[in-house]
Amino acid sequence: MSKNIIIAIDGPAASGKSTAAKRLAKALGFLYLDTGAMYRAITYAVIKNNIFNDLAKIFELVKNIELRLKYENGLTRVFINSDEVTDYIRTPEVSGKVSEISRIPEVREEMVRLQRKIAAQGNLVAEGRDITTVVFPSADVKIFMTASLDERAKRRYKEHLEQGDAITFEEVKENLIKRDKIDSSREVSPLKKADDAIELDTTNLSVDEELQKMVDLVNNARE
Ligand code: DC
Repeated sequence: MSKNIIIAIDGPAASGKSTAAKRLAKALGFLYLDTGAMYRAITYAVIKNNIFNDLAKIFELVKNIELRLKYENGLTRVFINSDEVTDYIRTPEVSGKVSEISRIPEVREEMVRLQRKIAAQGNLVAEGRDITTVVFPSADVKIFMTASLDERAKRRYKEHLEQGDAITFEEVKENLIKRDKIDSSREVSPLKKADDAIELDTTNLSVDEELQKMVDLVNNARE
């Protein structure tokens, strides 16, 4: 059996990774993996169990948690020990705390293990912060996606409005700045462009243009 193909995409919050990765996976008929949803789910569980300041309890939680992702109709559904938490992982509260939880090495270790297990299931488009550098450094295609801060804040603000969240544009922007800073400066698996990743700036690209560029990259890699 030939080895599964892996397309790895990294980039800062709201850079357009998720939309792009989903569309690419659909176009190619590959599985789609949103690794941010995994860190969000752990963060939600930490908040719910009120153990944010208790590292030992967080280790225990992450070792014992049964985390399952089910991607269908454009949505990553997330389950913790068979309870669906999909609607709770993208709240401003979780967004505000997720970088603190995802900087914990033991949390990352478990998530990476799970991500590699998922990759054994078939051809995959995976997106996150350390996919091209740590999780799948030998991926067939590696993309680093960027967009200007204002454009990213606009995109994320629109999503919050659609969800009915009470948050201002300035708060969204502040959260992005804070998360970028923690995600890029943490000691373990910081967000950075891998030397051999291709940078794709989506500030002025439509989603169709973005998709076309990625499909071209994949086709080039397959030739
Ligand atoms: O992609 P997102 O905004 O849903 O990700 C939420 C957070 O999870 C992000 O701020 C950092 C963390 N994350 C990470 O550390 N590593 C990944 N591979 C994916 C996300």
